[in-house]
Amino acid sequence: MHIPFWTALVGGLFSVGRAAPNTGGLSCTVTASSGDDGPAFVDAVQRCDSVTIPRETTLSIATRMDMTGLKDKNINLLGTVKFTSNMSYWINNGFPFEFQDQIAFWIVGGKNIHINGGGTIDGSGQVWYDAFATNSTLLRPILLTVYQATDISIKNITMINSPEWFNFVNEGQNVIYDGINITALSTSNNLAKNTDGWDIYRSDSVSIMNSNINNGDDCVSLKPNSTNIIASDLICNGSHGISVGSLGQYSGVYDIIENFTSTNVQMYNAQNGARIKAFAGAGVGSGIVKNISFSFFTEGNVDNPLIVNQCYMTDTTECAAHPSNVYIQDVTFSNFKGTSSGKMQSVVASLACSPDARCNNISVNDIFLEPPPQDGHATYSCQNVNVTGNTAHLFGNCVTT
Ligand SMILES: *[C@@H]1O[C@H](CO)[C@@H](O)[C@H](O)[C@H]1NC(C)=O
Ligand SMILES: *[C@@H]1O[C@H](CO)[C@@H](O)[C@H](O)[C@H]1NC(C)=O
Ligand SMILES: *[C@@H]1O[C@H](CO)[C@@H](O)[C@H](O)[C@H]1NC(C)=O
Ligand SMILES: *[C@@H]1O[C@H](CO)[C@@H](O)[C@H](O)[C@H]1NC(C)=O
Ligand SMILES: *[C@@H]1O[C@H](CO)[C@@H](O)[C@H](O)[C@H]1NC(C)=O
Ligand SMILES: *[C@@H]1O[C@H](CO)[C@@H](O)[C@H](O)[C@H]1NC(C)=O
Ligand SMILES: *[C@@H]1O[C@H](CO)[C@@H](O)[C@H](O)[C@H]1NC(C)=O
Ligand SMILES: *[C@@H]1O[C@H](CO)[C@@H](O)[C@H](O)[C@H]1NC(C)=O
Ligand SMILES: *[C@@H]1O[C@H](CO)[C@@H](O)[C@H](O)[C@H]1NC(C)=O
Repeated sequence: MHIPFWTALVGGLFSVGRAAPNTGGLSCTVTASSGDDGPAFVDAVQRCDSVTIPRETTLSIATRMDMTGLKDKNINLLGTVKFTSNMSYWINNGFPFEFQDQIAFWIVGGKNIHINGGGTIDGSGQVWYDAFATNSTLLRPILLTVYQATDISIKNITMINSPEWFNFVNEGQNVIYDGINITALSTSNNLAKNTDGWDIYRSDSVSIMNSNINNGDDCVSLKPNSTNIIASDLICNGSHGISVGSLGQYSGVYDIIENFTSTNVQMYNAQNGARIKAFAGAGVGSGIVKNISFSFFTEGNVDNPLIVNQCYMTDTTECAAHPSNVYIQDVTFSNFKGTSSGKMQSVVASLACSPDARCNNISVNDIFLEPPPQDGHATYSCQNVNVTGNTAHLFGNCVTT
């Protein structure tokens, strides 16, 4: 049943009705106006327990959306939420995040919040891809940011053309993404750069599952202080892979990555498959990467199908003089198959550790990776690490110091 009163708001309409019995509370519908629908959407979510954006509706969002501090909300996104391409507005008004100097269109936070419904979030990325091609310091908004949030689910949603990262989980706990389709596609010669699928930071218990990602940077990236994370049943295309790091970048800062499982991943046309990277050199930070499992990876045309780099952005001499302060331990890679791109010639896997035993207990099992036929037999490369596991012999003797 529907209580027939409608409220006209700054830019958009929402109707208020009794909730369906199974959801409880007040349920509202937001429909499109001819102007900015952002304020009406935010207002509806603040006032109602359950908010629906109908299937035919495209909400045009011209102002930033602060949906933090919420409790017990359902957002049924059947239609589309599309951000405008007003670059000057977003550059000056996007929510700023100090970490890696980011800005965001839309922040969601609080407790027990669920977004689902099969609809679409559209970042109007093309203008940003084109502008970034001539301005590498351009601030570009993140599509959807989960910030200071507990018990969040985001399910059955398509996300297209984010200007930059698609999803940022910043200070989140118990966050689930399930059934998310991501596509960043530039229609010009300017690539959709830095369009990471997910970046996780200072967060615990985050699961990313059953999703398809077509993008131009990391498929999933674990930034500092990501614990108890799962990335499973993903198909990534065109990305930079499933990345742990970069870690240990900032002097005086300690970074923790602990308990990460990534399984059943298909990785195609990518720069990396499974990757761990940490800075070395004078004046860098420190940290620990511990209890990491990458398993059942199927790869095709990937530059580095399996890679640990503990001398990231640091030359060999410098890395020897100042090894990484990020220790990497208890890492297993198992059941990897497929082919590299040949960009690294015959090298299909590389475990490049800093000297002084800063990688420990790295195990490789059932690794069957091949370069393209013209690059001959697979080379497994390693330094400064005692590799174990049933395919450790492929790497030969890695202990060079
Ligand atoms: C873009 O946003 C600015 C405010 O930052 C506004 O003055 C301008 O009218 C907007 N442009 C369009 C095309 O909406
Ligand atoms: C996703 O949303 C669509 C459209 O609302 C719905 O038909 C479908 O059942 C949903 N799928 C899942 C897995 O919930
Ligand atoms: C690049 O974009 C930023 C806004 O993010 C702006 O401040 C800066 O002036 C631009 N640089 C150039 C060279 O246009
Ligand atoms: C995502 O793509 C898969 C495979 O094409 C499809 O089955 C699924 O319905 C899509 N999900 C959404 C939210 O559109
Ligand atoms: C996968 O990525 C490649 C290279 O980035 C691209 O050419 C291709 O169209 C993508 N495939 C799909 C199914 O989107
Ligand atoms: C990570 O957590 C540790 C322990 O709580 C803390 O000391 C450190 O500052 C955190 N690092 C970051 C980048 O938040
Ligand atoms: C390692 O992490 C997994 C989850 O990723 C967890 O189930 C397991 O208990 C952890 N092992 C240790 C020794 O902490
Ligand atoms: C990692 O998992 C183990 C086993 O479940 C747990 O005891 C430990 O607290 C977890 N580590 C972190 C940082 O949550
Ligand atoms: C090595 O790592 C594995 C997987 O994380 C763990 O189960 C095992 O206990 C570790 N071994 C040692 C000696 O720490």
